[in-house]
Amino acid sequence: MAATDADKLPNGVRLRDLGPGDIEAGIALSREAGWNQGAEDWRWMIHHGRGWACIDSGERVVATALTLPQSGSFGWISMVLVTAAWRRHGIASALMTHSIEALKAVGKTPGLDATPAGRAVYGPLGFNDIYGLTRYRAESPRFEPVPDGSGCRPLRGGEISVLASLDLLAFGADRLDLLEDLRQRAPSLAWVHETGKGYCLGRNGRGAHQIGPIVAEDGGMAIALLHAALSGVNGPVMIDVPDRHIDLIEWLTRSGFRAERPYTRMLLGADQPFDDPNRVFAITGPELG
Ligand SMILES: CC(C)(COP(=O)(O)OP(=O)(O)OC[C@H]1O[C@@H](n2cnc3c(N)ncnc32)[C@H](O)[C@@H]1OP(=O)(O)O)[C@@H](O)C(=O)NCCC(=O)NCCS
Repeated sequence: MAATDADKLPNGVRLRDLGPGDIEAGIALSREAGWNQGAEDWRWMIHHGRGWACIDSGERVVATALTLPQSGSFGWISMVLVTAAWRRHGIASALMTHSIEALKAVGKTPGLDATPAGRAVYGPLGFNDIYGLTRYRAESPRFEPVPDGSGCRPLRGGEISVLASLDLLAFGADRLDLLEDLRQRAPSLAWVHETGKGYCLGRNGRGAHQIGPIVAEDGGMAIALLHAALSGVNGPVMIDVPDRHIDLIEWLTRSGFRAERPYTRMLLGADQPFDDPNRVFAITGPELG
């Protein structure tokens, strides 16, 4: 960290790189915030991204932030977490400044999905609202069986690179590694539409299954893919949906999902999305975009 950033940290807190040894501490911060990430999520993000931990005088991890550079023109800021006892001391702002500098140094526009508390930090740093999202959760969704003729079938292992090409057009960056990781983690949540224009993936989180991303041509296709994925799920499920997708949101509400928390997609110094929000019906999750 540059001296100017370190100077902004409160006394008694220092910064170091986040490493594989911090997975348990990361899970503890996720749990404290009521987030869903487990060991597999933290391991993937630490391996593929670059992260920082704030350490107190007792060597405890009291805050984290991660950057996940994408192949496109933007990079993702993720896992901005500060333990309750250290909030409102400027730690998140210092971690954000550092993360922004790290992404700018590799020519990427910083982006993120903000909680309301996070948005209060990011707005003054220059982040613009791009679109709203809402997390929906069901303890046990009451969904209909997959109807015949829905046009969905399970994703086959060898198809992931075709799917990544479709994802590139919708998401705005090549994320083959992430998509393959999701397929391996939760094959029963991985479905494609036979037209080749839609797919769904998901993962098993610490407290719930998370469905997403879902890319589709329209709401009907998105609902069919979600239907199919839910057929392999037992227990709590959540999904993060852009607020514009009214058809899908109405279907979720009818199926026992309730709005849990809002997010705002934000970009630094840009006012247009890098993705195609008309085709992205569910994001992977706020930590992954
Ligand atoms: C959101 C969070 C990261 C903020 O961390 P922090 O270290 O307390 O933030 P900072 O001290 O840098 O805050 C800077 C400014 O942002 C604003 N701000 C921060 N938290 C806020 C909150 N909960 N409500 C309203 N404004 C807030 C304030 O203007 C604050 O300045 P001030 O303390 O001088 O008034 C922390 O509350 C947290 O971990 N929350 C749970 C997880 C989460 O929501 N993370 C954000 C993910 S996008």
